Amino acid sequence: MEKLYTWLDERLGLQTIYNTVLDRKVPKVNWFYTLGSASLFLFVMQAATGIFLTVYYVPSPDHAYDSIQYIMNGVAFGWLIRGIHHWGATLMVIVVFFHMLRTFFFASYKYPRELTWLTGAGLLLCTLGMGFTGYLLPWNQRAYWATTVGTEIPGTAPFIGPFITSVLRGGTDLSGVTLARFFSVHIWWLPAAIVLLIGVHMYLIIRLGISSVPKQED
Ligand code: HEM
Repeated sequence: MEKLYTWLDERLGLQTIYNTVLDRKVPKVNWFYTLGSASLFLFVMQAATGIFLTVYYVPSPDHAYDSIQYIMNGVAFGWLIRGIHHWGATLMVIVVFFHMLRTFFFASYKYPRELTWLTGAGLLLCTLGMGFTGYLLPWNQRAYWATTVGTEIPGTAPFIGPFITSVLRGGTDLSGVTLARFFSVHIWWLPAAIVLLIGVHMYLIIRLGISSVPKQED
């Protein structure tokens, strides 16, 4: 094993990666500083369970509802995977939000961490977008009408409102086109944006280090 490790380390620089990414010096912090890692864990869990769900989920008005019923009642542990994905989504929104509150109240957004904050703001928007687009996918009454209302709200904006609604719906009403584009955004566009933003977010955290708990005199 040791020989294999040395062989790989010489070629890949594993030790350097370990030292830079995991063996960093961190100031004495508290439990609130774990919320970022908790957000990361939840994102990975959502991605894993979501990939499993796409094996059986069919994004068409004729089959979406039935495919979810099948996942719940016919697929081994389908109820568990869907349950984790469902509750994980709610938990992720809450945890990301509390992570933002932590960085705000501890003033971690100040110099030199402005870009960490900005990429974080992008991550919050994408997380909310995941919740919004995922809600329609079960294609039941609640999903249908919640999205009808949700896509109507931006429609009230002056001038561009109706345009935004029609882009979101892919027409004047909710239809198979809406379901297809919400599915596409939910499994490709937003996850790609989140992976990219997390990459930059983490790079900045490694490069700049974690801020320390502000003291009274700060
Ligand atoms: C999917 C969403 C997110 C993930 C996975 C994530 C991940 C992380 C991780 C692992 C850390 C380092 C540990 C920590 O300080 O908790 C961190 C730090 C930070 N995050 Fe996030 N984050 C997310 C969303 C956000 C949001 C919404 C904001 C603010 C708008 C934000 C702003 C920051 C800032 C300013 C830091 C630096 C903290 C410091 O140096 O003390 N992040 N993030």
